[in-house]
Amino acid sequence: MLTKFILAASATELTALRTAGINFATLYLQTVGIIVVIGILIFAVSGFYSHGRYYRSKYKAILIINSNSLVWLLIAILAYLIPVLPTPPRSVFIFGWLSSSAFLLGARFWSRFWRQAIKLEARILRQAHDIEKPKHILIIGGAGFIGSVLVRMLLNSGYRVRVLDNFLYDQKSLDAVQDHPMLDIHTGDSREVSSVVQSMDGVDAVVHLGEIVGDPACAVNDDVTIQINIAATRMIAEAAKGYGIGRFIYASSCSVYGASDQVLNEDSKVEPLSLYAKAKVAAEESLNSLAGTDFHPVILRLSTVYGFSPRPRFDLVVNLLAAKGIQEGEITIIGGEQWRPFVHVKDVSRAIKMILESPLGDIAGNVYNVGANNLNYTICEVGKIIHPMIPGSRIVELDEDYDLRNYRVSFDKITADIGFECQHSLQYGIAEIQEAYANGQILDYRLREYSNYKVLLGENGRLLQRYNELFQLYPQPERVREEINA
Ligand SMILES: NC(=O)c1ccc[n+]([C@@H]2O[C@H](COP(=O)([O-])OP(=O)(O)OC[C@H]3O[C@@H](n4cnc5c(N)ncnc54)[C@H](O)[C@@H]3O)[C@@H](O)[C@H]2O)c1
Repeated sequence: MLTKFILAASATELTALRTAGINFATLYLQTVGIIVVIGILIFAVSGFYSHGRYYRSKYKAILIINSNSLVWLLIAILAYLIPVLPTPPRSVFIFGWLSSSAFLLGARFWSRFWRQAIKLEARILRQAHDIEKPKHILIIGGAGFIGSVLVRMLLNSGYRVRVLDNFLYDQKSLDAVQDHPMLDIHTGDSREVSSVVQSMDGVDAVVHLGEIVGDPACAVNDDVTIQINIAATRMIAEAAKGYGIGRFIYASSCSVYGASDQVLNEDSKVEPLSLYAKAKVAAEESLNSLAGTDFHPVILRLSTVYGFSPRPRFDLVVNLLAAKGIQEGEITIIGGEQWRPFVHVKDVSRAIKMILESPLGDIAGNVYNVGANNLNYTICEVGKIIHPMIPGSRIVELDEDYDLRNYRVSFDKITADIGFECQHSLQYGIAEIQEAYANGQILDYRLREYSNYKVLLGENGRLLQRYNELFQLYPQPERVREEINA
């Protein structure tokens, strides 16, 4: 009985529904022209076409429902007023209003969903492309000894380059390229978060060279060294990661190896002896701790660099011994039995460029020693290479031995992984220094500007202090010092 009743009821409802459907279809077909015209008119008058894009989410939905209700109200009025039009039951109007509202709102949501899906896909594809083929490179410390060579090398290869530098050692090194259309220069300190974040806007990769460099320079002011070489380096990496810049190259140093009689490779134990080297180890550790699927630091442990650069340095052993030989006729050897690996500044820059251009899968998260097996020399050997190149010079060996570093390094890994090999010999770099003297580019190697240590002791030491006071930066160097000494 009940089943019969339900069946009879549903049969009645079905018939009513079918009638309503047929009525709706009839009305729709007979009045489609009018519905479209009225619809367009009402939506135009309500500002949907002119101001619609300024409405967001629920306000847009309200606008659509209001306009659509008005359309159906007008159609109902016209249907009753104009005799030639059919006059269907009210359910047809309600159904028409409901279905068209649902259709219009659905269309909005659907288009929004697709726009977002397409945008997301485009972003993922762009990031994947940018990370594999970076074109816009941020070089922090781009005015320095290595940076000023690397900037030119990348510009010449068609890269867009941005430099962030506080110009501790002046901006002269970039004078010749400062108007290059593909270069923009940001003056700022790496400890200042806003400078770092601004400099990262729109770049695909970061090369971080902007630290206090060398044992003596780092010893001038421990706190500043800790701030710049440890804390700021971590902050820079965090900013890059936050920005989605996955390719990050960090210039570390072979001096992390300290003293050893073995030939050391990337897996050898680190034995940092100075604050400079300890800070490098600490910075490497924090970069590694940030590494993940979206952040791929590559750590380059550079050999001691030599050669001529737009920012010449004569606080580096090969350059210093060559300059002393040329200017004073004496090649003064201190701690002659110590082993040290060397690399030319152009080779370092080329290694960085090759890392930038290597597939991320091959290099991500790796540590590489940068140099060449045949460029491991004792300081005595360096003197013996320089001596015959400077007629009239003599070697003077001193007993003092304040630098405890002594390490020979293997460079097999970088050659095996990316095919990097050094192209420039020690003799090539020494000849460059001779040429710089001959053409008057260098008059006196002892000038303050050629030594990081001397610059930091002078005016620019105070410049760094001023930056400190200005930004009240990293107030806990004590804690960091305890950690790195532990
Ligand atoms: N030159 C070498 O023999 C050698 C060896 C091993 C590793 N490295 C590493 O390579 C990198 C570059 O060395 P380099 O020889 O070009 O040194 P550099 O001293 O010539 O250049 C450093 C640059 O960084 C800038 N800088 C310093 N502190 C800054 C700060 N707080 N904010 C912004 N800019 C800052 C300086 O103004 C300078 O232009 C360093 O990380 C260094 O430790 C160099």
